[in-house]
Amino acid sequence: SGIKGLFTSDFYIGAALSGGDVRNQPNDLMVTISNNFNSLSPENLLKWQSVHPEPERFNFDLADRYVEMGEKMNSHMVGHTLVWHKQTPDWVFQKENGKARSRAELSSQMKNHIQVVMNRYKGRIDTWDVVNEAFTDDGQFRQSAWFNVLGKDFIKLAFQTAHKADPEAQLYYNDYNVWKPKKTDGILAFTSRIRDEGVAIHGIGMQFHLGLEYPTIGQLEEAIQKIVDHGFNISITELDIDLLPNPSGRQGADIDANFPYEARYDPFQNGLPNELKEKLANRYRDIFKLLLKYTEHIDRVTFWGVRDQDSWLNNWPIRGRTAYPLFFDQDYKLKNYLFDKLVEL
Ligand code: XIL
Repeated sequence: SGIKGLFTSDFYIGAALSGGDVRNQPNDLMVTISNNFNSLSPENLLKWQSVHPEPERFNFDLADRYVEMGEKMNSHMVGHTLVWHKQTPDWVFQKENGKARSRAELSSQMKNHIQVVMNRYKGRIDTWDVVNEAFTDDGQFRQSAWFNVLGKDFIKLAFQTAHKADPEAQLYYNDYNVWKPKKTDGILAFTSRIRDEGVAIHGIGMQFHLGLEYPTIGQLEEAIQKIVDHGFNISITELDIDLLPNPSGRQGADIDANFPYEARYDPFQNGLPNELKEKLANRYRDIFKLLLKYTEHIDRVTFWGVRDQDSWLNNWPIRGRTAYPLFFDQDYKLKNYLFDKLVEL
């Protein structure tokens, strides 16, 4: 039934859960998940700063509950994320005296973190976003705190350590804008090279934080095809569609001019106009239609949240937006205007 019921023989359908979701497990949420999703992702609660806030202190309270919840619901479980330049405490990169860690020190910080976290959930978390967002949109290595000390070897080291910790786990490289040709090419050149050298790296996570019109379905398909041609599996890891104007021009820029500046971030005081509901529904339909062409290679499609009001897009790229990116309204009611178009597929 629900969204997952439309795609049972195609791919897992997932949702990211917030810390509050996992702490409170409200009944409406639990019913919505069991009817609609068969995979879970942790929005923030498994990130480095959440589980490993101090050098000698791990805090697995919420992460344990997340994994137990998934087991009760028989969900395919995602770990997100082991090595990233964001939501990672400063002490990882710097010593108490403010001096940057050496190569050897930073490598051992990384290895220790991956080992402890993955060992704890060995055999219980099925797939990990091992490295997140290590490339720029131009396909260069991002000049992150990891890269600046360890060079590109940090990616290899992360995957090698992860594979040792849980040889059964599916290991993914995850990023956004994996449709821009230079970025996709840069990621694939590097990941396929280390894979050919024997490093266990199974797939590419395409985040899919999308706009209403951009990227085009053609651009997305080209990227999917390239990934498939390189012999990797694909997960759609963080699907949402932002239809609000966005000052960065990253998405939604086409409707920017329709709103006075003050209204740009909350333009629909009376709820989403029907015309935009339809555009959003068509966009989701087109995306799923594309993904259905590649079911042999796509393991799962995960929405980055359940309800609109919980979406990170209410606070990104600036605070105080009212976003409409997901499939459930505030009462956990499925938006029929979106669902009905998927049923037609
Ligand atoms: C976001 C969360 O949704 C927010 O709650 C948090 O404040 C910042 O991170 N790419 C990723 C995700 O890989 O981890 C990010 O999640 C969204 C962009």
